[in-house]
Amino acid sequence: MLAMSIAMGILGKITERFGSKGPAAGIQSGATLDENAVLEALRAVQDPDLHRDIVSLGFVRNVKIKSGEVSFEVNLTTPACPVKEKLKTQCEEVVMALPGVTGVKVTMTASTRGSLPINTGSPVSAALGQVKNIIAVASGKGGVGKSTTAVNLAWALAKSGSKVGLLDADIYGPSIPLMTHLREGATASENLVAPPVVDGVKIMSVGMFNQGGKATIMRGPMAAAVIKQFLTQVAWGALDYLVIDYPPGTGDIQLTISQTAPVTGAVIVTTPQEVALIDVRKAISMFETLKVPVLGVVETMSYFVCDNCDKKHFIFREGGGSRVASEHGVAWLGGIPMDPGLVKASDEGTPFVAGHPDTPAGKAFFDVAGAVAAQVSILHAENKNVLQHFSLEWKSDAAAGEWKN
Ligand SMILES: Nc1ncnc2c1ncn2[C@@H]1O[C@H](COP(=O)(O)OP(=O)(O)O)[C@@H](O)[C@H]1O
Ligand SMILES: [Mg+2]
Repeated sequence: MLAMSIAMGILGKITERFGSKGPAAGIQSGATLDENAVLEALRAVQDPDLHRDIVSLGFVRNVKIKSGEVSFEVNLTTPACPVKEKLKTQCEEVVMALPGVTGVKVTMTASTRGSLPINTGSPVSAALGQVKNIIAVASGKGGVGKSTTAVNLAWALAKSGSKVGLLDADIYGPSIPLMTHLREGATASENLVAPPVVDGVKIMSVGMFNQGGKATIMRGPMAAAVIKQFLTQVAWGALDYLVIDYPPGTGDIQLTISQTAPVTGAVIVTTPQEVALIDVRKAISMFETLKVPVLGVVETMSYFVCDNCDKKHFIFREGGGSRVASEHGVAWLGGIPMDPGLVKASDEGTPFVAGHPDTPAGKAFFDVAGAVAAQVSILHAENKNVLQHFSLEWKSDAAAGEWKN
C-alpha cells in the first residue's frame, strides 16, 4: 500500500512535469524540462540593441512550467522597445522547440530604465525627482520640424505605455499649446504648479500664460528664469520620459536647462539639405561641450511621396541626416516623410500619430520613438555619460561641461 502510494506520487509528479503524454512523448534521455532548461534555451535570444542575451540581461522573470505549458515574463527596458514583437516570437520559438513543451505563453512587460532619483530636497528634485529620463529635442535652426518631432515623439512614447511629459522650452516661439489643442491652464498644487494633461501627456509651456497671442518680450535672464521655474516648480511627478522642445540654436536657454536639470540625452532634428546640416554640427558640438550625450539625428521632410506615381521625391536632397549622424558617430534615428497632413494636424492641435498612426509619416514617428527609447536604454546599459540624478551639481563658476560630485 505504502509502495503504491509512493509510486502514485512519483507518477503524479511526472505527469505534472511532462503533461498527460508523459516523458516518453517529450523529454529525451537526460533532458529535464525545468526552469534551467527554459532559461538555457532563452539564452539564444539576443537583445539587438544591448548585444546581450535576454537571460543575462535579467529580462526573464516568473518562469512557470505546468504540464508542458511554459509561461514567463520578459521585462524590457522600455515599453517603446522597437523589437518587442520580434523578441516575443523568438522566445516562443526557442522554448517551443524544447522537448516536452506543449505550449508557451510569453508576457511582454517593461520597466523603463532611468537614472535613479536621489532626493536631496532641492527644488530640482521636488519637480524632477521622479523623472527617469529627460530628452532634449533640439535643432541648430528653426522651422525644421523640431516641435512637430517633439510632440509626436511624446505622443508615440505615451501610446506605447510610457508616462510622458512635454515641456515647451521655446520661450520666444511657444507652439506646443496650439499643436496639442491645450485649453486648460496650470493649477496650483501645494508649492508646485500642476501641469495640465492632454491624452495622458503632462504639458507645460510659456504659451499657456501668454494671453491673446502677444509676442513674448523678455531679456535673456528673464527667459532663463522662466525655464528654471519650469524645471524646479512644476509637479512633473513620476515620468518615464520628459521631452523638452528646445528653442532653435545654441543660446542661453539651452545652457540654463543643462545647468538646472540632468538631461539624459539629445535628439537633433534637421532637414536634409547642407545649409541645415551646418547648424546640426553646431548643435551636436554644443551638447558635447555640455556633456549631454547625443541620442541621434532625426531628419524631417525627408521626401515627398507623390499621390499619383508613388515615387519618393527628395525635395531637399537625399541622405543628409544619416550622413551627418555617421560623421559624428551618433545614431541615425530615422527620417519623416513630408506629409501635408502633418501641417494640418499641427494647426488643428491633434498630434499626427494620434490620428494617423498607420500612414508612412505616422509609422516613421513610431519608429523614431522606438529608436530614441532604444538609445536611452543603451546609454543606461552602458552606464556611460548618464548623469545620475541630483548626485551631481553644476559648478556654476567653471567652464560649461564640468560636473562635480
Ligand atoms: N514631415 C513634415 N511634413 C510636412 N510638414 C512638416 C513636416 N515636419 C514639419 N512640418 C511643418 O513645418 C513647419 C515647421 O515645423 P515646426 O515643428 O514648427 O518646426 P520648428 O519647431 O523646428 O520651428 C510646420 O508648419 C510643420 O507642420
Ligand atoms: Mg518650434
